[in-house]
Amino acid sequence: MAAIEITGGVQLDGEVWISGAKNAVLPILVASLLGDEPSFISNVPHLQDVTTTMELMGRMGASLAVDDHMRIEIDPRGMHQFEAPYDLVKTMRASILVLGPLVARYGRAVVSLPGGCAIGSRPVDLHLRGLQALGAEVSVVNGNIEASAKRLKGANIIFDTVTVTGTENIMMAATLAEGTSVIENAAQEPEVVDLANFLNAMGAKISGAGTNTLVIEGVKSMHGAEYSVLPDRIETGTYLVAGAITRGHVRVTRTRPRDLDSVIEKLRETGAEIEVGDDWIDLNMHGRRPKSVDITTAPYPGFATDMQAQFTALNTIAEGTAIITETIFENRFMHVQELQRLGANITVKGNTAIVKGVSELNGAPIMATDLRASAGLVLAGLVANGTTLVDRVYHIDRGYEIIEEKLGQLGARIRRVSSPN
Ligand code: UD1
Repeated sequence: MAAIEITGGVQLDGEVWISGAKNAVLPILVASLLGDEPSFISNVPHLQDVTTTMELMGRMGASLAVDDHMRIEIDPRGMHQFEAPYDLVKTMRASILVLGPLVARYGRAVVSLPGGCAIGSRPVDLHLRGLQALGAEVSVVNGNIEASAKRLKGANIIFDTVTVTGTENIMMAATLAEGTSVIENAAQEPEVVDLANFLNAMGAKISGAGTNTLVIEGVKSMHGAEYSVLPDRIETGTYLVAGAITRGHVRVTRTRPRDLDSVIEKLRETGAEIEVGDDWIDLNMHGRRPKSVDITTAPYPGFATDMQAQFTALNTIAEGTAIITETIFENRFMHVQELQRLGANITVKGNTAIVKGVSELNGAPIMATDLRASAGLVLAGLVANGTTLVDRVYHIDRGYEIIEEKLGQLGARIRRVSSPN
């Protein structure tokens, strides 16, 4: 196993490019299974979750080819097995996204039920109820979701809670249903919009993406499409926080600034000077210590839960006290105990963390617990005195492409080492 070793204390200075968005590429890859022809997806990030998704689709019979530029061709014509087994689902909950496309296009699916995970119980009841509303027969047998339908039928679906992958799953399923579907209280995340754009490029008829109401007019069949995935707003935000926490100057390029309004606003509150261009964001702390900022996570366009751990890390060394309120996942403070090992002053009460800024952190061995938490830990390591060793970096590799190279490019003293454990 690998670990990341960071020697803290360097003010980051430089430019870093942003990869394609993990949370957009996963649904887009599986959406290609809805077509009758090959699709070509570019700006694909080199991530463990992408490899897992490709393995999943390959086991089902799709042919996949990747070129040197991480452009992926998916040919769904050989599909013959409609199962997502536990050994893959347990490493990547987003595997649930195959459910909608498989039932809609191939009439059946068996998907292992994702269990609990580090950041909470994360049920999939809304995915299942949505599919049932579209006329699928759904049951849970021996830990597997089994779903089938001859042809799905358009329906009105109102989600009780805003769910990103739930919206994506039902939107994908509805593309091939007979008649029109309306999804209310739909997720408005940019990744949902990117998926809708790709589906429309394949011949789907979806309108309203980016609002809370989606209208999907079912079509009989879909063709292949070429599509370039949008830039990753969470990776973008993470490198901006890296600049802020180290009092440095970081420019992120090949990104889409409009997806980061709430993050940019919060970074300005910390005292960062931020300039925004068409596809770049420039953050400069001018050597100043950041000020604390309160955060409350919410569905888009609110502050992303996937940026919460990074801002918790930022607040540990900020001037003042911050209140962090997590409203999306009940157990998403796993990084707090690890940050405390570096000397952070944080008290957690229910879904709130009170972070009193300290003047310095001190390096220690710490453990990554989930994907975004581990990004928060790496950020803390950048400012901690001495050496911080972040173990279990496989969590980071699920969602950050060559993080040590990109941070290294900004001047961080960081390297991948083999885990001592
Ligand atoms: C997606 C993102 C993840 C992000 C999260 C919230 C992907 C691959 N992952 O996860 O990075 O942190 O959105 O922005 O895009 N819920 C239910 N029943 C359901 C589904 C969800 O109760 O059937 C609840 C969840 O427990 C949670 C809330 O709804 O409290 C939002 O979760 P959801 O948006 O579904 O998260 P994911 O789609 O799994």
